[in-house]
This record gives sequence, C-alpha cells and structure tokens, in this order.
Amino acid sequence: MTSVKVAILGFGTVGEGIFNILQEKREQFKTQLGIDLDVAKILVRDATKQRVGIANTLLTESIDEVLAVPNLDVVFEAIVGEEPAYGYLDKAIEHHVNVVTANKVMFAKFGQVLQEKAQKYGVQVGYEATTAGGVPVIKTMENILRVNDVNHVQGILNGTSNYILTQMRTEGISFETALKNAQQLGYAEADPYNDVSGQDAFKKLMILSNLAFGQQPNWDDVEVVGISAITLQQVQEADAKGQRYRHIAEVGLDEDGYIFAKIGPQLVDATHPLYSIDGVDNAVSLDTNYIGKLTLVGPGAGMYPTASVMVEDYADMLVKKPALVTI
Ligand SMILES: NC(=O)c1ccc[n+]([C@@H]2O[C@H](COP(=O)([O-])OP(=O)(O)OC[C@H]3O[C@@H](n4cnc5c(N)ncnc54)[C@H](OP(=O)(O)O)[C@@H]3O)[C@@H](O)[C@H]2O)c1
Repeated sequence: MTSVKVAILGFGTVGEGIFNILQEKREQFKTQLGIDLDVAKILVRDATKQRVGIANTLLTESIDEVLAVPNLDVVFEAIVGEEPAYGYLDKAIEHHVNVVTANKVMFAKFGQVLQEKAQKYGVQVGYEATTAGGVPVIKTMENILRVNDVNHVQGILNGTSNYILTQMRTEGISFETALKNAQQLGYAEADPYNDVSGQDAFKKLMILSNLAFGQQPNWDDVEVVGISAITLQQVQEADAKGQRYRHIAEVGLDEDGYIFAKIGPQLVDATHPLYSIDGVDNAVSLDTNYIGKLTLVGPGAGMYPTASVMVEDYADMLVKKPALVTI
C-alpha cells in the first residue's frame, strides 16, 4: 500500500467537492490503485472560520505549511484569480509536488509556464476542470492530438450565458429577467460580469487554444462580445426562422496558418452542432482531419462535475507515474 498526502487549496464549492470525493472514494483507491489518499492540509483565506466536518488542524492560511507536509504528492488548487494561485502552484512544483487546478483565470495566463516548469521538475499538471467543467474536453483533445490535427474549435463555454439565451427563447423573457432567474438558481454570480461579458469563455478558449495549436492569439486581437445586448425580439425573430442565438467561442487556423479567435453571439440553424445545446450545459465541437467533426456535451460547472474531473486528473497521474512513498 502506498500512502499519499494530498492538499487542497480553497474550500469553497470546488474544494469541498474534492474533499468529499476523496473521502468517499478512499477505499476504492486503496483496492483499485493500492493507494491510501490522505488529505493532510486545506489552505483557505480565513482559517479561523468553522467548516462543517473539518478539523481545525487541517486548515491553514500558509502555503509554506502546506508544502512542509511530508510525502505531499499533489496539490488541488480551487481558489479564485491569478494570484496567489499561480505563486502557490509555482512553489508546489519547485517542491516536486504534482498540481491539479480548476482555475481558468490563472491557467489561461500561466498554464504554459507551469507546464514547462513541471516538466523540468518531473511532476505533472492537471487542468481538465479549467475548461467546460465536467466535460472531458482536455483529456479527449490530448488523446485525439496524438494522431489527428485539430483545425478548428467551437464551444459553448459559459453555462450561465447559455442558460440565459435558452430561457429567453423557451420562456419568452428578457435578458434581465433570465439573468435574475440564473442568479436565483445559483447559476450566475452576484456579479455576473465575467459570465455575460464573454470574459469567462475567453479564458477557457485560450486554454483550448494552447492545447490544440500550441499557442494563443494575441489577447488584444481577440474580439470578445457578451450576450447582454441581445433582445427578446431578436431571439423570437430568429426562432421563427428556425435559428437560435448561441454564445460561441472559437479558435482556429486561417488559410495562411495564422491563428484567429473570437467570442460572441452567433445565429445558428439546426445543422450546426451547437444548435441543440440548451440550459447550463457546455459543449465543445472539434474539427479534426481524420475523425472529422466531434462534439462533447455536458455539465460545465458545479461542485461534483468539477471536483470529480480533478480527482480523475490525479488518478491519471498515478497511473502514468505512481507515487513512490510506500508504507
Ligand atoms: N464553482 C464551479 O462550478 C467551478 C467550475 C469550474 C471551475 N471553477 C473554478 O474553481 C475555482 C474555485 O471556485 P469555487 O466556485 O469553489 O470558489 P469559491 O466557492 O468562491 O471558493 C473559493 C475558495 O478559495 C479560497 N480563497 C480565495 N482566495 C484565496 C486566497 N487569496 N488565499 C487563500 N484562499 C483563497 C476561499 O477561502 P475562504 O473560504 O476562507 O474565503 C474559498 O475557500 C475558481 O478558480 C473557479 O473559476 C469553479
């Protein structure tokens, strides 16, 4: 049996989901992988705040205390924003600790740097949860790219925007009312700017761009348009013509091999792979040279979809390169 120490950075929606899954699956990991996964530290902003079911000794506000855990093999990062997340993961890699992140804002900017650094230090980086939540787009693309070229990626990458557009069409309500509904149901933040402005989808698209093309377009050259200007009348007129508004993030190579990307509402008809994607679901459609067109659909967010793909990322790492500490 191998004993593996785990740390979780952030104990909000996603962090708590990771903790719960690690508890629930502990016996399964022991029997299937011969590994005993033990959560040794949880880093939060405020360690004095009581967390139900969590011993105070597990909580810390210090990354140094996290990285001082003997035999620490992985850090799951589920905090918000570029910093301190990037600095924490950079430091974890320097301590030869694997990292798994859900943080698209940080990873869109620093993903490449972290991956290069991880290679140098002989550890792995998991980032499935950064893009399209529970939809296994990263793993699928990594696999496809071993043989196929991906020429064009189109996605519905923000569930809140998709929910709002769906509600406008199916319930005949305005953008403002649909947004309020989304907030009441917990699909949209109190400050919905990142979702409805297209910025959230933009960050996820840049992560996919790196993976598919090994590069990102210059961020300043990417047109990013949200959905707030779409009126109910436009949605209804489109519907009458058999068309739907979809908020689509796309990246590809033009005829001269230059990368292009744009994010914004598009009118699509029933022949389009994203036409039927309703509600909070995310979807990613890939154009590949051998397979052809492939579309992945599923939950783009939520505690368990997001947390479970993060634990899967780590399970994959263990299969590729087992942890070394044996008891
Ligand atoms: N929620 C989803 O469905 C979802 C889906 C995909 C990806 N993500 C990504 O996952 C990450 C976490 O999302 P979430 O929804 O779980 O967020 P959340 O509920 O707001 O929780 C954030 C957690 O991070 C901690 N934190 C925030 N800033 C910190 C700092 N400067 N230092 C230390 N800890 C800090 C908070 O500590 P306190 O508890 O002490 O405040 C809290 O425990 C984000 O990057 C998000 O984009 C979320």
